[in-house]
Amino acid sequence: MRESVTSKTYDIWSWFYDHTFGALVRNRQRRAVHQLRMRPGDCLLDIGVGTGMLLPLYPKNVTVIGMDLSWGMLAKAKRKCGELGLEHCGLVRADAMLPPFAPGSFDQIMITHTISVVSDPTKLIQWASRLLKPSGRIIMLNHFLSAHPVVAWFEKISNPVFMKIGWRSDLSLEEVLRSTDLELEYRFKMQMIDLWQIIVLTHTGSMNTASPKAATPQPVSAEQWAVKAG
Ligand SMILES: C[S@@+](CC[C@H](N)C(=O)[O-])C[C@H]1O[C@@H](n2cnc3c(N)ncnc32)[C@H](O)[C@@H]1O
Repeated sequence: MRESVTSKTYDIWSWFYDHTFGALVRNRQRRAVHQLRMRPGDCLLDIGVGTGMLLPLYPKNVTVIGMDLSWGMLAKAKRKCGELGLEHCGLVRADAMLPPFAPGSFDQIMITHTISVVSDPTKLIQWASRLLKPSGRIIMLNHFLSAHPVVAWFEKISNPVFMKIGWRSDLSLEEVLRSTDLELEYRFKMQMIDLWQIIVLTHTGSMNTASPKAATPQPVSAEQWAVKAG
């Protein structure tokens, strides 16, 4: 999926996201937020913040940055921030595969339903790992390719259909993690048969210094990226 197409697709999605897909995953999002271990003053990055459905769930004593590519999704998130007085949340329009932040900037990173949307999931996760402090954690909520061969076969053949509506169904977690310095702390599904899982990742110990190719953050002006909340 190309980012130019994705951002347009999600501009359209933004009009009905909260009442359709969003409504379906609301409880899972809440459960994913429960996995955070944040202290007052910590900094959290929400990659692919979308319409900001998770923003009201984050503690108010931490700084939250929501990053997304779609202006439409960000506009909805901005409205939520204003209506709910979420002054601890800021919004940034940026590509998750070229994020404008310094390495080690965040204590925790949340990635819900986004890694299967970007064109290069490995690059996204490598970047997330770099942006994370050495003791930080990444919480992911997503669908990944099933370990069951029949289900996996179905997920692979139906992938072209899912790509048309904005995400892929054939993404393997193991493949994505192979080229990172991240390890699985734990993972679980909310129900025995569930399309989505919650995954918690930490650094293996050594920071990954091998940055994704051509992904050095470019200097950008605040006006260019920031859609300040409120
Ligand atoms: C399925 S939505 C998930 C939104 C939100 N995380 C949630 O759980 O409700 C995927 C989001 O990822 C964003 N996205 C896709 N590609 C991106 C990229 N390369 N960089 C930043 N955001 C991206 C889309 O614009 C969209 O808002």
